[in-house]
Amino acid sequence: MTAAAPAPDRFAVCFSGGSGIAYGLRLVEVLLAAGHEVHLCATEAAGRVLVHEAGAAIDLARPDLASLFAAPLRTRLHVHARDAVEAAPASGSAGIRATIVAPCSMGTLARIAHGFSSNLVERAADVALKEGRPLVVVPRETPLSIVHLENMLALARLGAIVLPAMPGFYHRPQQVTDLVDFVVGKILDRLRVPHELVRRWRTPDAAAGSPWDEGER
Ligand SMILES: Cc1cc2nc3c(=O)[nH]c(=O)nc-3n(C[C@H](O)[C@H](O)[C@H](O)COP(=O)(O)O)c2cc1C
Repeated sequence: MTAAAPAPDRFAVCFSGGSGIAYGLRLVEVLLAAGHEVHLCATEAAGRVLVHEAGAAIDLARPDLASLFAAPLRTRLHVHARDAVEAAPASGSAGIRATIVAPCSMGTLARIAHGFSSNLVERAADVALKEGRPLVVVPRETPLSIVHLENMLALARLGAIVLPAMPGFYHRPQQVTDLVDFVVGKILDRLRVPHELVRRWRTPDAAAGSPWDEGER
């Protein structure tokens, strides 16, 4: 008997202007491919990072984020303008299961930690906190100042999941996408969304053979 596929859920994914837009793009792609509904919003700086890091040819004033995803996936994708504070992620009653800010710039991190809600990304995160729903922030900066660390601590104390973009290397990545999938896999693990992005580490006992579950990616 095969296990029933998990019921589709509704997620808010937010891009801000930290480096590592590939994490956010891959997360959206994987959630959509798994049949979930994704509400996507991005800060103005995220658009700039998209241009620099993904070579995306987008209009920075009104970026067409849907065009970044394959046509069959777009049916479950809802893209919202950064000032659309009437959009679903801005409301506690919209049935968003979890909100993920990936990448999360230090600026957006600070504003979420202090409840600014000055754009849809910050409001979506604020709503997740007030509703007691999972909020995953994926900060990216190095080195980290005391301001950055204190803001992360504040968010962790408020119940957010602070999941830095820190890929491991014990799975022996061969290409950049392996590193991206490592971090995206960690996000999905915290949200209890099943995935096969990375092999699972089972035991470091050499006598037991491979430390990896070879049957599982
Ligand atoms: C290519 C690029 C990479 C950047 N990388 C980072 C980063 O890793 N972390 C960060 O906090 N800011 C980074 N920044 C700067 C932020 O985008 C900038 O502080 C911006 O004001 C953040 O705005 P937002 O929080 O509204 O997205 C980067 C900017 C660019 C253009």
